Amino acid sequence: MARNARYQDKYLQNFKEHLKELISINCISKAYRTGRGKVQALSDISLFVETGMTLTIMGKSGSGKTTLLNCIGGLEGPDTGSVECFGVDIHALSNRDLSLFQRRNMGFVFQYGNLLSYLTVFENIAFPLILNGFRNKEKERRVSELLDKMELSDAARAMPNELSGGEAQRVAFARAIAHSPGMLLADEPTASLDTETGNKLVKLMLTMGKDEKCTIIISTHDQEIIKLSSKSSYIKDGKMKGPENE
Ligand SMILES: Nc1ncnc2c1ncn2[C@@H]1O[C@H](COP(=O)(O)OP(=O)(O)OP(=O)(O)O)[C@@H](O)[C@H]1O
Ligand SMILES: [Mg+2]
Repeated sequence: MARNARYQDKYLQNFKEHLKELISINCISKAYRTGRGKVQALSDISLFVETGMTLTIMGKSGSGKTTLLNCIGGLEGPDTGSVECFGVDIHALSNRDLSLFQRRNMGFVFQYGNLLSYLTVFENIAFPLILNGFRNKEKERRVSELLDKMELSDAARAMPNELSGGEAQRVAFARAIAHSPGMLLADEPTASLDTETGNKLVKLMLTMGKDEKCTIIISTHDQEIIKLSSKSSYIKDGKMKGPENE
């Protein structure tokens, strides 16, 4: 092989390897047609997030944060543009493959925990492990480890309606990362919590995200979270207003 071709081959290989490390959002737009007419929720948004980094997305109510997170996580499809997670164009996947990709590689935390009300704390955290085919022993080890790290060991047998807001969000977070996903999407996870409880949750999320090499994308109004994250972006009326602290 000629030297130049060898160099190009190596360059391409490195580039492909690098892609696997990234979440790349490429020019996505999305409009909703509503009783009030057309709402342009996202316009031409592009973003890159490297493995293990935390990106915060800020913006006023109605600016498009939830729509953006839903498009990144494949919960909604953009009208145009693409989302590549670790080299996979997720919106090009079939529904079945997308579900499989989400189940293995993604974790979600919403504003209100969305815990399964008929399962105990332990069972809620174990849920993604069962879906991913973990064996009983592995499952028990991982759930116990997470309960311990979240300071929730006493609550293993509690039902979700017996938890405080902060505890419920810690369970939701533990469930979201139980299967060690490459990425975690959190839509205003502290919005229903007081400042102190919210800050404690975020610090835990960021420390554990780093430990587990999980890329975190988090939407928030909270200045404390923005200070703690590696990169933050602001959106206004569905348009990106630029990274603020790269
Ligand atoms: N399913 C939907 N159908 C119609 N319009 C929608 C839908 N979801 C969002 N929108 C509109 O798209 C725009 C962006 O909404 P989005 O929920 O993404 O904003 P947000 O920044 O998450 O707001 P908030 O901070 O209040 O959660 C808004 O104008 C909203 O009314
Ligand atoms: Mg929202």
